[in-house]
Formats: sequence, structure tokens, C-alpha cells
Amino acid sequence: MNGKKNLTSKSELEFIKTIHNTIIDHLNGKDKRLVRSLKTSDNFKSNINFSIDDPNDHQDIKILIDQYLESAVNTASPHFYNQLFSGFSVMGYIGEIITAITNNSMYTYEMGPMATLIEKELIKKMSNIIGYKDGFGTFVSGGSNANLIAMLAARDKINSKSKKSGLFKSKTLCAFVSEEAHYSFIKAGYQIGIGTDQIIQIQCDLKGHMDTDLLLYQIDKALSEGKTPFFVGATAGTTVKGAFDPIKKINKICKNFNLWFHIDGSWGGSVMLSKKHRNLIRGSESSDSFTWCAHKMMGLPLICSVILMKNKNILKKINNVSETDYLFHGNDHDGMDLGIYSLQCGRRVDSIKLWLAWKYYGDIGYEKRIDRLFDLAEYAQAIIEKSTSFKLISPVESLNICFQIQTKHLNKSEWNFLTNETRERLVNKGEIMVNYAMIEKQCCIRLIIVNFNLEKSHLNIFFKSIESISKKIIKENKTN
Ligand SMILES: Cc1ncc(COP(=O)(O)O)c(C=O)c1O
Repeated sequence: MNGKKNLTSKSELEFIKTIHNTIIDHLNGKDKRLVRSLKTSDNFKSNINFSIDDPNDHQDIKILIDQYLESAVNTASPHFYNQLFSGFSVMGYIGEIITAITNNSMYTYEMGPMATLIEKELIKKMSNIIGYKDGFGTFVSGGSNANLIAMLAARDKINSKSKKSGLFKSKTLCAFVSEEAHYSFIKAGYQIGIGTDQIIQIQCDLKGHMDTDLLLYQIDKALSEGKTPFFVGATAGTTVKGAFDPIKKINKICKNFNLWFHIDGSWGGSVMLSKKHRNLIRGSESSDSFTWCAHKMMGLPLICSVILMKNKNILKKINNVSETDYLFHGNDHDGMDLGIYSLQCGRRVDSIKLWLAWKYYGDIGYEKRIDRLFDLAEYAQAIIEKSTSFKLISPVESLNICFQIQTKHLNKSEWNFLTNETRERLVNKGEIMVNYAMIEKQCCIRLIIVNFNLEKSHLNIFFKSIESISKKIIKENKTN
């Protein structure tokens, strides 16, 4: 079929085999590897030839790959608590390989037949879980992009001419999210042409939930200033505190003012898979759109995100444009050419990794895993509450645990320094990676419980390490 020559030459296939062996060695060694390679310190930049001018042979490329693997952050480690994702997914990895070797694209059924059917199945399943009876959606390039698309849909609802004519003659549109919401909403503010000033950030209560009295106040204020409110974005699982905004109350306000109601479940959307914890998003079916990132709490490799819409027609309305007949030939009568519903043109197959993982675990497997993460978060919380050195800075509502290191041996004003310095030294040792955040001007360690391989013993080591480093710092800095 392809003539006499193999499309992939013998030496290329040999090279792929060699790299596959490297990958297996890498996976075998993951447990023993540091989370943060010490090779990235000192002369890291100068030890690697980054220039791309001259050709290199397979051997040179192998050396570069080894250098990359050696220096990469080991996000598979249970001691990687740094981000809202952690762990290695076998099905995710296999899905990624299949995506790469087939290199299909999601715009037309012709170009990705099974991928299209897989994506449609997942979208149907995820929409049903949210409670949309006849919903629709699409895979997107991340939670941020999903939030942007939700805002575009809301803009279309309030001003259906805006797609064609822009917002030039429109009244000022404004949107509301909580002060704890993800920064992607601010970016979406300029991307959809209303400006970042029109993303009004509503204050939260001490637990990190949007204050709905203040939401009402800000909507009234905007109306009195002649603005047109059109969108409220609730967050189901905030980035720092892991808090869940009050869905039912926000929904009521949205219905009263005819506002688009979006839920950003990038982080927390996966709790819908747990009967025990899905009450955190009770009322999700009342929303107009929902962001859900499977690369976070479902453990898949980045990126694996969807935007789901209650109105199945809206994605086509906002994304379909003319001059596309070279690609969409007008013969798609079953809605199988998914490109029509997407902001992207070429789009990688992100669905297969999620489909394989979900097929493998089943609903029950995911439910168990998510319940277990919540149990581990409770365990970590109990350690902090029992300790005289650690203090929770925000109540634990899901899988984010924000705590400060406090001691009577140092002034209160030095607790921020102590917490920050402890984290810095911990991360520099390379065995554990955890991030920090500021809450009400207090520096705290943000521990994220999301790795499916995490055990209580890892958490014991985590807290012991923090304790011993902080004790050392206290000794060095004792004020009395
Ligand atoms: C609540 C929330 N929304 C949106 C995002 C953005 O998701 P992504 O990184 O996939 O763009 C994040 C990222 O952490 C998040 O925590």
C-alpha cells in the first residue's frame, strides 16, 4: 500500500525501542527518584545544549531525553503535593501514546471516527452526572479555556448579535465571580471584550465561600450604574482553599436576574463521582455550564478538560463560522463533526485516556479512589489539629489543607517567615514538593491530597519532615 519503503525506517524503530526501554526504566525508578531533581540547581542551564541549529543523531537525542527525564519534576510521587494534580496513570499514559501514534484530529468524524464516538460517550456521561438531561459539551485545552467558553456562551445569550457585531454599541456587560475564583475568569474578561474591570470579585466568608448577600449587593450596584450583569461563575473547589460556593443560593439569584450560571468545577467537579461527597455540588443541574478537569482529581495526565452546556445548541451557535467548507463539507447530518462545536480547529484526542481509565476503574473504582482521598485529607487535618506546631488557616472542606507553622518561640510576625522558609528548605532537599499560599496575609503551606497512591505513611513523613526543618529554623532564630 505504501510502496516498498517502510514509513518508519528500521533505525527509527530501533530508536523507538531504545526509548521505550528508557521509559520502562524511568517508570521502574520513579519510586526511588527525588520529587525535585537536584540537577536543576547549579549549572543546569550550561550543562545542556539547548540550541536547535545543527542536526543531531539518535545517540545525541537519547542523551537529551535522559537529561530531560533526570531533571523533570517527579509528579508521580505521592510526595508531590504541589499542584492540583499528582500521580501517574497507566491508562492515561497508554492513552497519550495512542493519541500520539495515531495523530488523529477531532474536527471531523472522518478524521477521528472512534475518537469522535468516545468523546461523545464521555460528554453524554459527564453531562448526565452533572444533571443536564439533554446537555452537550466538548473537550477543551484546559479549565481556563472552559471558563472562557462558558463566558462566550453567556455573552451570546445576553447579546446574540455580539458574535457578528462585537460589543461596540452594547451597554457595559459585567460578570461576577468570588475573590477566591481562578484567575482565568479575569483573563476571560479581556478575551471576550468586556475588560478585566468588569469581572467583579465578590468577597467570601472566612471559609472561602462566595457571600451571596454581597453578590446581590454588587448586582444591584452594577444595575444602578447602568451596567448589564450577565454572568455569575461559582467555584466548586477553589484553587487555594478547596471551598465550594453555595450553588443553590447562587442559582436562585441567577434565575431572579436572568443571569448565566456557570460552575467552575475544574478542581472539584470530580466529587460528583462520589455518593458521599457529591452533596458539595448539590444543585449542579440548575447551572447553565460546567467546567470539569479530569487531569486533576481523576488522575489523568494533563490536559483532560471538558466544558459542559445545559443547552445542547449553544456550542455550535458560538463556535460555528463561515469559510470552513474546505473542512466541513456540509454533509454532517448526525452532528458527528465535533469541530463545529469547538473554539479550536485541529484538536488532539484527549478523550481516549479518560475513556480507557474510566473503562478500567468503572464508576465504582473512581468513587472509591475519591472517597479515599477525602479520608486521607481528614487524616492530615487530624494531625494538624493535634499538633502544637501547626495551625489550620482555613477549614478543610475537601482536599486542600492550608496550615501555618506557629511557635511561641518566635514572634507572631515571624510565623510567615518560618512557614515560608520551612517550605523552601523542604523543597530544596528534593524529597517532597508542596506549595504555599497567602491567606489573609498569613503564609500557609497548601497541602493537596490528590495522588491515588498516597498512604497515611507518606503523610506521616511529610509532617515529620516539616516539623524537623521548622525546629531547626526556630533554633537558629530564637528571640529569647
Ligand atoms: C478552580 C480552578 N479553575 C480553573 C483552573 C484552570 O485550569 P487549567 O490549569 O486546566 O487551565 C484551575 C487550575 O488550577 C482551578 O484551580
